[in-house]
Amino acid sequence: TLDGTGSPVRPHTAAGPGGGPLRRPAPLGLIAELTYRCPLQCTYCANPLELAKYRDELRTEQWLRILDQARELGVLQIHLTGGEPLLRRDLVDLVAHARQLGLYTNLVTSGIPLAAGRAGALADAGLDHVQLSLQDADARSADAVAGLAAHDRKLAAARQFTEAGLPLTVNAVLHRGNLARLGALADQAVALGADRVELAHTQYYGWAWHNRAHLAPTEEQVRQAESDVAAARERHADRIEITLVAADHHSGTVKPCMDGWGERQLVVNPDGAVLPCLAAAQLPGLLVPSAAAEPLAAIWHDSPAFNRFRGTDWMPEPCRSCELRELDHGGCRCQAFQFTGDPAATDPACRLSPHHHLVTAPAPAGTSGPAPRRFR
Ligand code: SF4
Ligand code: FES
Repeated sequence: TLDGTGSPVRPHTAAGPGGGPLRRPAPLGLIAELTYRCPLQCTYCANPLELAKYRDELRTEQWLRILDQARELGVLQIHLTGGEPLLRRDLVDLVAHARQLGLYTNLVTSGIPLAAGRAGALADAGLDHVQLSLQDADARSADAVAGLAAHDRKLAAARQFTEAGLPLTVNAVLHRGNLARLGALADQAVALGADRVELAHTQYYGWAWHNRAHLAPTEEQVRQAESDVAAARERHADRIEITLVAADHHSGTVKPCMDGWGERQLVVNPDGAVLPCLAAAQLPGLLVPSAAAEPLAAIWHDSPAFNRFRGTDWMPEPCRSCELRELDHGGCRCQAFQFTGDPAATDPACRLSPHHHLVTAPAPAGTSGPAPRRFR
């Protein structure tokens, strides 16, 4: 549909029988952060900095109840992630339960703690897809980012997943240290028998925000990466799908983060906190609901946290009168907060934002250079 200004409009509520409001559409996906424990120490990790706060994890029966409630709410896809979800002993049971409910299950993993036979057990339980991360195509550089000798073990895990018949996506987080080897990363994914490779520029939350001065690429690197990906697509056109998630800091446009706040997905933290995105726990004044205390449906439809940035009423100018506001949802609230201190500000990645210079300026460094690199 079109509104009076000619911009496409996606309604947030529809009229029900008799003209009353219908409930908002169901979320498509639930991101289940099963644990923040992880054998790796990546400098770009999006997990919170205060990892010690999350030692008390939900119990198996609590996760099973959350899966039931998610399905009742209308969720279709579950992304099992972390930290490292393979560290949960109940992972196979959770996958089997999700499958029984008819949910599509995706495992997001480093592959490191994959014991012999576990890939087969996950496949037998009904796992639909594995997304395995590589840090780099070069083992030494990859291990330097991960903080341990991980690369060869990851390649072995990838083979175990494909031998178990599981569809595989290889993903890599891009930063100045690995951008020169995107072609080699795509070649490696093809050699592993992956179906897709997803190359995504670092999102600067959590540990990545702290390490930005060490991770942020140059404009030249970003442009070179685009042509390297185009060349890799040509080389492997019939074998693998290659996705490049753009560097919003270098494009002047914003990402429609999470497809809009509270529009399509919800996140459950290891301790049961329910959030509209991975990084929202840091936002000031957000009353974070808990799946241990409230049903997911009430949280999705009625909680102040999920309603805070829904729709367009909260937007300041220039978003408020911008014809893209229904398409990009004004970008990312967490990025706006990190750069400006105000989560309701226009995402500074947008070239129309009054704060855009904060994104294009080099990451701040002290008088003696950038703060030391911090491994998680
Ligand atoms: Fe998107 Fe706001 Fe920028 Fe318009 S002004 S393009 S809505 S972030
Ligand atoms: Fe929180 Fe984008 S990560 S809104």
